[in-house]
Amino acid sequence: MASLRGKRCLITGGSRGIGLAIAKVFSNHGASCVLIGRHHETLTTAIHSLNHACLSYPHEAHAFNVSNLSGWQSFMHKMKTGPLDILVNAAGISQNSFLFKTRFQEMNQLLDTNLKGTILGCQSVIPRMMKQKSGNIINVSSLLATNGGRGASVYAASKAGIIGLTRALAWEVGRFNIRANVIQPGYIETDMTKDMEEGGHLSALIPMGRLGLAEEVADAALFLANNTYAHNCVLNIDGGLSAT
Ligand SMILES: NC(=O)c1ccc[n+]([C@@H]2O[C@H](COP(=O)([O-])OP(=O)(O)OC[C@H]3O[C@@H](n4cnc5c(N)ncnc54)[C@H](OP(=O)(O)O)[C@@H]3O)[C@@H](O)[C@H]2O)c1
Repeated sequence: MASLRGKRCLITGGSRGIGLAIAKVFSNHGASCVLIGRHHETLTTAIHSLNHACLSYPHEAHAFNVSNLSGWQSFMHKMKTGPLDILVNAAGISQNSFLFKTRFQEMNQLLDTNLKGTILGCQSVIPRMMKQKSGNIINVSSLLATNGGRGASVYAASKAGIIGLTRALAWEVGRFNIRANVIQPGYIETDMTKDMEEGGHLSALIPMGRLGLAEEVADAALFLANNTYAHNCVLNIDGGLSAT
């Protein structure tokens, strides 16, 4: 159970949902977690829910908007010491509007949070990982990146961008012993989907007949964190939805 002992992981979107499930699994395997979200209260509650046994560094929480360059700069300044072994970019927001009705401000918010936030996370952390000559980046995309989805055009574009980003990075950073991989979840039970599943509408679309659990996505993150030859993977966890 201690495969990540001594490792330090940054997890954006670590306050809730998939990011928090990843933090729980990583901390159960001995990792110290640095959670990033926008709200101190949710982050504090999240930190309390982690496993605090046998840590090399205490868990930490930092509240800032991932789309904000100065937020990343001051965060990295605070993280001057200690290793940064794993970066998980899980912060994201969803969309529920046809493109012709999507306002410019909403479009910017989606692209800024989902795509620019992930790019900034990678750009901020990679120089440290290059100095360490090791690192591991796990970016959370979505099945909608490749399958599309009604009312999710900008979201899908932002998530497709994450796959392109990660593939390009895999070329750039592999020789520094930094691995970069993508998880492509289908529909997962979190706050993001709680209003979408009314009347079992989503489950009916999925071959496994149900939404996935955040813990099932976290399992995939653990695999990518541990498998030392996993690089440039796009790992779908979707209950078979990609087959339909
Ligand atoms: N749930 C699904 O079915 C599903 C499917 C495919 C992909 N995904 C992706 O998986 C990731 C996690 O989704 P989830 O379902 O766990 O969603 P969630 O429960 O709504 O959690 C979203 C997380 O992102 C954080 N966040 C949002 N905007 C942020 C910002 N600007 N700066 C910093 N943190 C921000 C939130 O923190 P605060 O609100 O506290 O700031 C929260 O921790 C997202 O990238 C999502 O697109 C989810």
